[in-house]
Amino acid sequence: MVMAPTTRARAVNAGLVPTELHALYYGQRAGAGLIITEGAWVSERAIGFVHVPGVYSEEQVAGWRRVTEVVHALGGRIVLQLWHTGAASHPDHLGGERPAGPSAINPQELSFTAGGFKETVTPREMTRSDIATTIADYRAASENARRAGFDGVEIHALGSFLIPQFLNPRLNRRSDSYGSDRTRLLLDIIDAAAAPWDGRCLGVRLSPYWTSGDHFTADEQTLADYDGLVTELNAHPVAYLHLRGPGPAAPGATPDLDAFARWRQRFDGPLIVNHGFDRASGNAVIEAGIADAVSFGTHFIANPDLVTRFALNRTPATGDPATYYTGGADGYVDYPVSDRAGDTPSVR
Ligand SMILES: Cc1cc2nc3c(=O)[nH]c(=O)nc-3n(C[C@H](O)[C@H](O)[C@H](O)COP(=O)(O)O)c2cc1C
Repeated sequence: MVMAPTTRARAVNAGLVPTELHALYYGQRAGAGLIITEGAWVSERAIGFVHVPGVYSEEQVAGWRRVTEVVHALGGRIVLQLWHTGAASHPDHLGGERPAGPSAINPQELSFTAGGFKETVTPREMTRSDIATTIADYRAASENARRAGFDGVEIHALGSFLIPQFLNPRLNRRSDSYGSDRTRLLLDIIDAAAAPWDGRCLGVRLSPYWTSGDHFTADEQTLADYDGLVTELNAHPVAYLHLRGPGPAAPGATPDLDAFARWRQRFDGPLIVNHGFDRASGNAVIEAGIADAVSFGTHFIANPDLVTRFALNRTPATGDPATYYTGGADGYVDYPVSDRAGDTPSVR
């Protein structure tokens, strides 16, 4: 049982430093077989969401070290997810400057700023120098994660952010080798970020079925592109592949296991699957031999002792989406563990 990465916007300080609250939050969830943290900025240029911590300054490294010490003291394992929003950022995050992306095409997404959700703008096209700097930023952030005591790093290549923008033929119209081979940025980042770990301990998170706005629509061509990418990952230092699937057809329905089997056939290493799993469907996907582990996002938000609850076959509590990104302790570190009465109420 893996805790899926969940942005919680609790680094409410000028330096975007993880605090004692983060140590408490992750410590409460140290029963997970592996924790994958919320996405953390690889540099100031990567920022695209309020109150998300970074991993590019010494203060941030010190804050994360406190988190890893607590999780390790409690017997847990924890990797840091490395995030860059690219063209899905907004000038409000970047001192008024336009974000940079693969090409000067507005991804037409929303960026969560201090003034609420704002529409993205047309980015400037990244120069070769910008790309080289970005890859170096990932490497430095990965080195920082190692110094902070993490057990590894995960490359956030999910959703509509920098790396999926490069993978996407509708947003990447570059005429250089980062356009003719749209996987090149991700592969270069993997190689650079794995270096501080001697080529070990680096996972990759992909979302081949992602759909949002006009530009991210999964179709046969998208999936065929991902077939090639996932096969290529075998030739790079990737410790595990973490896949977000299409999600259940309806709330509570079993996820489509065939959608994951497609990637199991192509990737040689450990596979973590995600999106809409519960105790029964999680066991089913493992027993079918399709996955090595299952990650849980919303369940771990609302159930710090999710492993215990599943072991006892108790019903997990339901979280409150209104407090997902609000900052502060409410809705963050105040979800109760199971009590002797059996199922806990689904309210805090
Ligand atoms: C509040 C919230 C924040 C999230 N933040 C991240 C993130 O930082 N990085 C990431 O890769 N996925 C993120 N996700 C996606 C989750 O990791 C996961 O894919 C999603 O919750 C579906 O899994 P579930 O059905 O087990 O909840 C987030 C999801 C939620 C609900």
